[in-house]
This record gives sequence, structure tokens and C-alpha cells, in this order.
Amino acid sequence: MKEPIIKAIILAAGKGDRFENETPKQFVKLAGLPLITHTLKIFNNYPDIKEIIIVTLKEYIEKTWELVSLYGLNKVTKIVLGGATRQESSKIGIDCCGADTDFLLIHDSVRPFLSNFALKKMIEAVKKYKAVDMVIPSADTIVEVDKRNFIVNIPDRAKHRRGQTPQAFEYSLIKKAHEKAIKDNLSNFTDDCSLVLRLGHKVYTVNGEEQNIKITYPLDFHIADKLFQIKTVLPPAFNNDEYEKLKGKVFIILGGTSGIGLELSKKLKNFSKKVYPLSRKSVPSVDVTDFNSLNNIFREIWRKEKRIDYLINSAGVLLRRDVEFMSEAEWDFIYNTNIKGCFNVAKAIIPFLKEQHKGSIVFLGSSSYTRGRAGYSAYSSSKAALVNFSQALAEELSDFNIKVNVVSPSRVKTPLRYKNFGKEDPSTLLKPDRVADVIIKVLVSDITGSVFDII
Ligand code: CTP
Ligand code: MG
Repeated sequence: MKEPIIKAIILAAGKGDRFENETPKQFVKLAGLPLITHTLKIFNNYPDIKEIIIVTLKEYIEKTWELVSLYGLNKVTKIVLGGATRQESSKIGIDCCGADTDFLLIHDSVRPFLSNFALKKMIEAVKKYKAVDMVIPSADTIVEVDKRNFIVNIPDRAKHRRGQTPQAFEYSLIKKAHEKAIKDNLSNFTDDCSLVLRLGHKVYTVNGEEQNIKITYPLDFHIADKLFQIKTVLPPAFNNDEYEKLKGKVFIILGGTSGIGLELSKKLKNFSKKVYPLSRKSVPSVDVTDFNSLNNIFREIWRKEKRIDYLINSAGVLLRRDVEFMSEAEWDFIYNTNIKGCFNVAKAIIPFLKEQHKGSIVFLGSSSYTRGRAGYSAYSSSKAALVNFSQALAEELSDFNIKVNVVSPSRVKTPLRYKNFGKEDPSTLLKPDRVADVIIKVLVSDITGSVFDII
């Protein structure tokens, strides 16, 4: 039997009134990429999808083509102007599909967390049932109200679901459903399944996932930011593509001779012979508080390797002391190492990364950046400063294809910790090995300007 032709429509013609932002939400950058790009990648990478049609706003058609070419989204064949309502945009997309289409998935551009697993279930179900909705149970009670806000009914929660996208249809069926809606003068349905139901056709449901959120309100954006970070570092197991990206690459690890830096350098040496762990103890000695020592060694590595792919700065100092009893010299020592050190590292490496038009930097932060505690005024405030520093740097470098992120572990079993806290129950501490895995995942990801908390 011939393989059915499955296409996808990505709806991106909404203005995002509830999101209240100048740039429409589907084009706002999330984890370094315009939101719609994340969504498109899911469909582009899924083997069963043969073609993608994007419906968008007039002013964004050209920009969307640019994204398509920049990110190699080779399945996108058409980018067309949408309509005034979601239903109209959907209809426009459907009409663009062509008669060779067997099945069609319609998805919101603002749901960037759809999993391959959920997509697979949809495709299997649509072949069998011809119309399928993706739904999840509702944790909140659903309440029906009248125009004056009085409750008229509280339906049984167990029987109700929340509708997500994608929704999937046999092509001829969804085409017919939209044509009938137009004939009946209906134009404001926010959901394609309702139109199929109006034809008297059954619509099957498959279970979606809680993470498949729709970015609707400003708060959703913050949640999405965190979801991305979780998604990137979990599970810690690597896939083959990620391993491939490490092979033969040039790594510079500052603070690379002890603790997390040492663990990371041991791990990376399995993939590449070009790992440079540097510290005050290495030969030559490199000190992040000394710009020239950084500048010299980077130049030397550049001359030898003609490239620098990844840089990790894990050099940092921690000193527990109440403000009243801390000397100025101690304060300066912490700030010079933890924050000015990052400035020095960045300033020294940027010219090389810019020249090759790529690179990825990870600074090691600390979970203490979120809240200062007694005895940690200098340490935790320097780590909070590092977060803002990195976000600013990520923006400055994003046009040069250079990524900057912070990995912030909590309580890691390292000599630094032992020195300050003595013996602790090891089961409550993170293993440096796990932190090293997360750093590698972040280095090879597309994300920039993010903080990855490891707890
Ligand atoms: N959409 C569309 N054409 C429209 C309206 C919406 O393609 N005329 C798309 C949106 O771009 C979004 C999806 O449908 O990807 C879901 O819609 P929604 O979350 O409501 O987005 P907006 O309509 O943009 O937001 P709002 O309702 O807050 O204005
Ligand atoms: Mg809307």
C-alpha cells in the first residue's frame, strides 16, 4: 500500500492581544530562537511529515522565509497570509495543501513543546479515525456561567478535557467541514474539530501532554523559558547527534584542574584530544583575574588549532564571612574572581569566536544567585551579577552565532564545598559528573541567554 501523504499547517497569523507585546508572541525569542522556530523544528524533524505550510501575518512573511532558510527547515513549501480569525487562517492553510494530501495536522505555532511521542500517537490515530483531537484532563473544575457571571452548571470534571493542538484530519473531511462552515456563515470557531462535529462526523481524542502548553499570556512565557531549560538538560543521557558534535572539537576549561572543571575535562577527553584544562595550577598558569594571561593562552590555542569551539569558565571562589567581618581584600578577591573574571574571559575570547562566527560559552553559576543568605553576601551576589552579565552578553553576541549560558548547580560534591562546609551527607549532594553532563548538553544546544538550574 502506498504511504499516505501527511502535511502540517502551522498557524501563526494571530496578533497575540492577550500577550500584550509589540512583537507577536510567535516571533518573540525564547531560549535564543523565535518561538515559531522551535515549533517548526519539531515538524521538520519528524519523518512522517512531508510538507509544512505556514500561515502568518503580512509583515512577517519575509521574516519567516528567512528563519526557514537560516534553520534549514526544508519541508516548508509555502508561507501564506492568514485571515482575521483562527478559523479563516486555518481554511487558508487547508486550501494551500493540494489535492495530493491524505492527512493534515493543524498546529498552533505557539505550542513549542509538542513531543515526538504525542505526534506519533496523533498520526496513528488519524489514519484510523479520520478526525482526532489532542486533549488532557482538567485539573481545575470546569464551571459554566451565564452572561451575568452566575453559575448555571458544574459539569462532571471526569468527563471533560482541555483541547490542545495538533488536531489531525483526513484532508477531504476537514476541507468539507470548513466549506460547510462558510456556507452557514460561521467564521469564528477557534477549533477545527468543532467544524467536523458539525458535519455529524465523530472525532476521536488522544491524550496530549501537560507540557504542550500554549503561550497565551505573559506569564506563559516565563513558564516556557523554564520548561526549555528543563527539557534541554533532562534526561541527562546523550543522543548520537550530541556525541557527534563533541568529536574533535576544541574545548577550553577555566578552573579545569579541580572540582567540576576537572570532571568535565576528564569526560570531554573521551571525545576530543583538544581539551585545554587551565587554571592557576596549570602550565602555563592562567588566572581569570589577569586579562593578559587569558589573552595569551587563547591566542596560542587559536594559532595551534585555528578554532575554538567551546569555552567553560568554572573558576570561582567561595568564602563564608559576615559582611561585618569581611575585609576589603577578601571582598575584592571574590568579586575579582567570580565576576570580573567572567568579564576578562569573555573579553579575551570574543574576538576569536567572532572571527569564526560561532562558539558557545558556559559560565558556572550557583543556585545561591536567587537568594542571598547570611555569610554569602559576596559569593551569592557575585553569582547573581553573573546571571545578568551573561544575559547581556548573550544578546550582544547572538548575531554572531555565539551562545552564552549559565549552569547553576546547587550543592555539588567538590573540594570547594568540602573546604567550606566540611563533611556532609553525600546523598544530599549533586555529583560533579551530573553537572558535567548538563554543561555538555547546554554547550551543544541551540539555546542562549538562559540559566540552567540543576537541583
Ligand atoms: N492564529 C492565526 N490566525 C488568527 C488568529 C490566531 O493563525 N487570525 C493562530 C495564532 O498565531 C496562534 C494560534 O492560532 O498560533 C492560537 O491562537 P491564540 O493563542 O488565540 O493566538 P492569538 O490569536 O495570536 O492571541 P490572542 O487571542 O490573545 O489575540
Ligand atoms: Mg486568538
